[in-house]
Amino acid sequence: MKHALIDTDPGVDDALALLLAFSSPELRVEGLTTVAGNVSLDLGSLNALKLLDFLGVEGVPVAAGAEKPLLRKCRDASSIHGETGLGGATLPEPNGRLDERGAVEFILEKAGELGRGLTLITIGPLTNIAGAILARPSVIDEISGLVMMGGAFGLTPYGHGNVSPVAEFNVWHDPEAAKIVFDSGIPITAIGLDVTTDPANRLTGASFKEIEATGTIRASFVADLCRHLIVRYGGVSLHDPLAVAAVIDPSLVETERVAVEVETRGEVTRGMTLVDRRRTHREELKEANVEACVSVDSVRFLDLIFERVVRGL
Ligand code: BDR
Ligand code: CA
Repeated sequence: MKHALIDTDPGVDDALALLLAFSSPELRVEGLTTVAGNVSLDLGSLNALKLLDFLGVEGVPVAAGAEKPLLRKCRDASSIHGETGLGGATLPEPNGRLDERGAVEFILEKAGELGRGLTLITIGPLTNIAGAILARPSVIDEISGLVMMGGAFGLTPYGHGNVSPVAEFNVWHDPEAAKIVFDSGIPITAIGLDVTTDPANRLTGASFKEIEATGTIRASFVADLCRHLIVRYGGVSLHDPLAVAAVIDPSLVETERVAVEVETRGEVTRGMTLVDRRRTHREELKEANVEACVSVDSVRFLDLIFERVVRGL
């Protein structure tokens, strides 16, 4: 069993990722930290509390983090995730409350407590993690690793941006934070758009019909989360669940070790995760800092989604 801390901005696919995480005996989720991204920090934190209630999870702290990127303004993704962040799903007001600790404090405390036994799973912008590194640089040696949903690495035909031609939303939203994290020395596995937008790894219209037909409260909730995306795009990219799945069962993914630079200053390339693929000028290459995901066992991944997200354990 792995001890995990999930940093999230819920978010439709964040909600699916949390359903997966809390239905997986391979993980012990030590807490959630929230960050502004898909929706405002307040809304995302509220959604996190509501989701824990929905799942009947007790005793897992939710610590609120950054309400804006390190240097930039927020730009939410409510056009994708809906005004509430949960698509067409509605949940009652939560019983639980936010933890008194802030996200950075919580991350540092858990890292100190569990040492190299803690895995960070980040499925939102990296503001809180950068904040923790800035507050206590030695934290990079205290955790076992970080598995993120983030980046578009150009390693597969699908590795182009979503929020811009070259940038993925989580990195784009706070590129300065992402740069701090990518350059930190923390062992990083990145689940980027290279694999999450591959049609083989997405939820299809046919699968959606199956979910709708299941008829349980849980399956109906999943359907309500996703319906508008099915209607608009004909499918749903399971970005954040894939990052959680890669921690549950690393054999689901194949990665390539690459050197990644995060673009913070470009006029049209903000948040680009640039991989130097040159075969010449090897002496100029920086040391590889990321295991970037290049392929997924799609059948087993989608089976896991049905078994745990839709049906629940
Ligand atoms: C990422 O951005 C968000 O909109 C999703 O929740 C996911 O974490 C995909 O680019
Ligand atoms: Ca997210």
